[in-house]
Amino acid sequence: MKNLLSIEALTAREISDIVELGISLRKNRAATPKVLNGQCWALIFNKSSTRTRVSFEVGIRELGGDVMFLSGAETQLGRGEPVKDTARVLGRMVHGAVIRTYAQADVEEFAKFSGLPTINALTDDEHPCQILADLQVMQEKLGGWKGRKVCFLGDGDCNVARSWMWAAARLGFELTVGAPKVFQPPADFMERLNAKNVSLSADPKQAVAGADVVYTDVWISMGKEKESARRLRLLKPWQINETLMKQARKNAIVMHCLPAYRGKEISSETLEKHADTIFSEAENRLHVQKAVIVWMLR
Ligand code: CP
Ligand code: NVA
Repeated sequence: MKNLLSIEALTAREISDIVELGISLRKNRAATPKVLNGQCWALIFNKSSTRTRVSFEVGIRELGGDVMFLSGAETQLGRGEPVKDTARVLGRMVHGAVIRTYAQADVEEFAKFSGLPTINALTDDEHPCQILADLQVMQEKLGGWKGRKVCFLGDGDCNVARSWMWAAARLGFELTVGAPKVFQPPADFMERLNAKNVSLSADPKQAVAGADVVYTDVWISMGKEKESARRLRLLKPWQINETLMKQARKNAIVMHCLPAYRGKEISSETLEKHADTIFSEAENRLHVQKAVIVWMLR
């Protein structure tokens, strides 16, 4: 029994195996193995979601399981019951858990005290399922990540950016995180990452130069709403648009984890031009998360 709590905790081999399995499940959805027969999994969400919730609800059912959605605020968690007590209760009733919340420590604690296979469906620190789906798109559209340059633009210290940095650290592709200094990851994170192939840039044009993949995420992550005005002001020069894309490789692809705010982190024109790639990322959430569950139960 395994967990998926972060990209940081995965090896290169594990990432590749999950992505390969995701690709085969996308090619033959009808051949999904029924590894969850007789099981009921809990989805515990403390933040909004469209893609993650729907893809897990559909995916778990396709794997033969049943699924229960729990809005964290409507459980006793919302009234202060400790995570470790909730975990011990659910550990005696359900067979697996998918958790979207704020603190990474809460997901780690839940996994420890529940004894359940546990998946991080987004925390403030990481969004591992998203990056696995994105790597699947890179494999499908570009034939892989070896020798490729990825550029992440925007809030360079958000969960999606951090998961990209761990993916680059594990897989060895070149990654530039382009962000104003205040939205770059702190020195202690970069030290822990310890990856020479990951660089930081405070210049949008320089960051995008020669990129095969140009990636962005919302500028105001869930939980950061109070900083909206400051973020919109400081991140304005970091929008992905057709002018900035001139710096990238000729056939560069644009990726976005969605939801997208047109006219903010990405122009409407650029989003629509790359819609096939962007909505493939969303679709791959279904396939790669099924792959994660099959891998976890091996
Ligand atoms: N990309 C992503 O995780 O989307 P949701 O917030 O809609 O789940
Ligand atoms: N960084 C974003 C990702 C949304 C899928 C957030 O945490 O809100």
